[in-house]
Amino acid sequence: MGQKKLSTIWPIENHTLAKHEILKEYLNAWFPILGRTSDRIIFLDGFAGPGIYKEGEKGSPIIAIQTALEHQALKYIAEIRFAFIESDSKRSKILKEMIDQEFPNLPSNVHVQVISGDFVESLTETLDEIEEDGKNLAPTLAFLDPFGYSEIPFELITRILHYPRCELFLTFMSGFVNRFLHDVEKENAVDGLYGTTKWRDARDIDDTDKRLDFLLELYVNQLNSIGIRFVRPFAMMTSGRRTIYDLIFATKNWKGMDSMKKAMLKVVSNGTYTFSDKTDTHQTYFVDYSEDSHWINDASNSIFKQFNGKEIPLNEIRDFVLADTPFRFLKKVLVDMEKNGKIIDVSGRTRNALTYSDNCTVKFSKNT
Ligand SMILES: C[S@@+](CC[C@H](N)C(=O)[O-])C[C@H]1O[C@@H](n2cnc3c(N)ncnc32)[C@H](O)[C@@H]1O
Repeated sequence: MGQKKLSTIWPIENHTLAKHEILKEYLNAWFPILGRTSDRIIFLDGFAGPGIYKEGEKGSPIIAIQTALEHQALKYIAEIRFAFIESDSKRSKILKEMIDQEFPNLPSNVHVQVISGDFVESLTETLDEIEEDGKNLAPTLAFLDPFGYSEIPFELITRILHYPRCELFLTFMSGFVNRFLHDVEKENAVDGLYGTTKWRDARDIDDTDKRLDFLLELYVNQLNSIGIRFVRPFAMMTSGRRTIYDLIFATKNWKGMDSMKKAMLKVVSNGTYTFSDKTDTHQTYFVDYSEDSHWINDASNSIFKQFNGKEIPLNEIRDFVLADTPFRFLKKVLVDMEKNGKIIDVSGRTRNALTYSDNCTVKFSKNT
């Protein structure tokens, strides 16, 4: 449904380059965080592509393997598995050739598998087997990057995310759902995508932007409703600021969200979580999130608005900042708040003044 007719290898677009940058930045954080504590970690690229673009640019599978091989954490990671699923047989063949050509000698702790098949079928089969054996899926980053609209059932997303330390990085096409909003033949498929029929309420929203926002927010809410606290969309737009798709990152782990925000803000540092074909990624912005001094005051105001007059455990403040604001959680924001009298007491402080241990509780002054 809604697939672009592209040749086996196609020209890369600017937003794909930005997506690859974010992926690479995130993997650079993900490999050491999970690799240190797990016997095995998995990078699953469910819509892998041929691994190469028209002018020789690398595709996500090659970028992911290369990032791992260049990472200094590789020497202490027990096992990394790369699983690449690609349904187009010509593309999966090229991908296999690309991998053999680029990485003729993989270290013994790196395993690569190219599966020529349909993502939903292949993963369902794998999860069925794991569950029949009473096992858990190893910590997995599922990167699901279909063209256009793809029928990825929400039930399958739920199954992946239900395992400990499994995360999702998904290309979500609200625009395609919008296009098929009144097509009764697609209703069941869209019900499956969302795991609810509530998307049909979008039919009553006249304004296109509001309708698209609703369709995206509903998907985010669906992820929250299955216990995924941290969900961050990132919009990919045309130069005319029309959304092409949203990247959605979802995790139960605050460190994962902090690392992903860091990755997204490194690629586009203006804090909008939006890349457009007009975006100059080397530009210095009026509000530049790579400069802490530009956003600390705003972060402090958001925290104060939420918690003034209350006494709150640090991890609750951290989770609020990461899940419900555009900011990263840096303790220097709390330092700023304490210096400005917005924080009036900290219990459980284990070290010096103006330090905040993970299990301390913070008392905020009252908004007057
Ligand atoms: C957007 S491209 C992937 C690009 C790649 N992730 C990258 O960043 O370089 C989507 C790919 O998914 C493949 N595809 C489409 N439907 C699929 C399905 N049901 N299962 C697996 N792969 C599929 C397409 O053939 C295409 O190569």
